[in-house]
Amino acid sequence: MSDNSKYLWWQTGVVYQIYPRSFMDANGDGIGDLPGVIQRLDYLKEILGVDAIWISPIYPSPMKDFGYDVSDYCGIHPMFGSMANFDRLLEETHKRGMKLLLDLVPNHTSDEHPWFLESRSSRNNPKRDWYFWRDPLPSPANGRGAGGEDLPPNNWLSCFGGPAWEWDERTGQYYLHTFAKEQPDLDFRNPEVVEAMLDSMRFWLDKGVDGFRVDVITGMIKDALLRDEPANPAWDGVEPFASLQHIHSSNLPEVHEIIRRMRALVDSYPQRVLIGEIFALPNAELVKYYGANLDECHLPFNFGLIWIPWTLEAVRGKIEDYEAALPPGAWPNWVLGNHDQPRIATRAGRDRARAAAMLLLTLRGTPTWYNGDELGMENVTIPPELVQDPPAVNQPELAELLGRDPERTPMQWDDSPNAGFTSAGARPWLPLAADYKQVNVARQLEDPRSFLNFFRQLMALRKSSPALTVGSYRSLELGSPEAQANCFVYERQAEDQRLLVALNFSGREQALGLSLPGNGTILLSTGLDREGEIDLSKFSLAPNQGCLILL
Ligand code: GLC
Ligand code: CA
Repeated sequence: MSDNSKYLWWQTGVVYQIYPRSFMDANGDGIGDLPGVIQRLDYLKEILGVDAIWISPIYPSPMKDFGYDVSDYCGIHPMFGSMANFDRLLEETHKRGMKLLLDLVPNHTSDEHPWFLESRSSRNNPKRDWYFWRDPLPSPANGRGAGGEDLPPNNWLSCFGGPAWEWDERTGQYYLHTFAKEQPDLDFRNPEVVEAMLDSMRFWLDKGVDGFRVDVITGMIKDALLRDEPANPAWDGVEPFASLQHIHSSNLPEVHEIIRRMRALVDSYPQRVLIGEIFALPNAELVKYYGANLDECHLPFNFGLIWIPWTLEAVRGKIEDYEAALPPGAWPNWVLGNHDQPRIATRAGRDRARAAAMLLLTLRGTPTWYNGDELGMENVTIPPELVQDPPAVNQPELAELLGRDPERTPMQWDDSPNAGFTSAGARPWLPLAADYKQVNVARQLEDPRSFLNFFRQLMALRKSSPALTVGSYRSLELGSPEAQANCFVYERQAEDQRLLVALNFSGREQALGLSLPGNGTILLSTGLDREGEIDLSKFSLAPNQGCLILL
């Protein structure tokens, strides 16, 4: 075994994302909570073998964006439990040798946060300039507003539909909100705001939290002049937010300074990690969030595999491009799904979901796994009257495209009423998947060839293999053009361990035409139906199959 000790936990480990509203409800109100998470820690540790948990926001919040509208950065929402519950969660997580990461939401607060209440109370309140307050633009400035009405200060759009500005009657100005109108943006050009956010981070770091996933990290700095954004010539006419190029509201050079401050704070504690949520940037821009001196995010989330059609060409292209873009010393990471994106089993298709999992856990770098994907859970269609997610509620005609409820439905633990997520008589906050009686943890544990048992073996192999955790990556050219067009094969190597990952993206059998001599040993196949020695030169993959082979 190679010496993994020079690598840090966030490099060798697997991060598991818990969406707390939907993970486990301990008090029967239909909404997941911290005592519920504590009940399921053994599942994460003993059954899955997870190394770190990132939990979506659990702070006090009016829940207009389900916790991403924070009204107190240093508290716990009573719906999720108490601070004592949190301390216990942290202790129990650490006791099991796992790490706990919180979701930090600095870009905006809730409109019920005391900072905003003060800010909005009068034009000369000391916190007025913690947020973006601006006068209306008199019509017809900039050629807009032909009707003669006053206009918002610029043309920026909210990610959740409509303009990014909300009129405030009391003080006669607009305020900026990149997301819902109940989520006013903080102004990080104001040093007091930076200090206040660092203080909130310090509060949790002092408690022993192992790091943060920072929400919308690219958006914390806006153009100093708040200039209009140009039209997006590539717009497909569907989602209004995409009609502009967000060059003045996101990914500004000065944001890196703020991130360096956050990183310096995190680094003043031992073994903590800073992960940034980075949305829709080309790899060359994405990797800047490692910092010019690797002094920003340890892991700028790499969503490369999220926004692509699940085809070999797109997947292989993303991976090669990302590997090539990584600066020296930067540690890669990969994400397949989260609470904002359709589930991988829905995106890739049920038949290909196992190979997708094999891909994620065998690529070079830290994988982040979304709760429930280990069961092959799929998106759940939400009847219109039960839709809750703001972008879907605000833009009903786009609900199917933009709504995020379908990937946020309750975790399926067993086949009892309400799937063991909440008590039998309760009403879960989102409907359960119709197939939960078949697709659940208890049942899959009993089925030796289930998705869950496949996933467990994959996790165990990853953990015990230096090639997979810290080894090099190299993709292989295949001898058969047919296989080259349909299969992705790469090698991972550390010291004397060499592993081959072979993934078939097609629904047909593929003879790979590997130009490797001798025999290999199949350690794992996606269907848990193949193992043992094979002749490499004659090796074929079954339809949609993935195999992990020891060379
Ligand atoms: C991030 C979160 C998303 C939230 C948004 C606003 O993208 O992942 O759930 O709605 O930020 O905070
Ligand atoms: Ca509850």
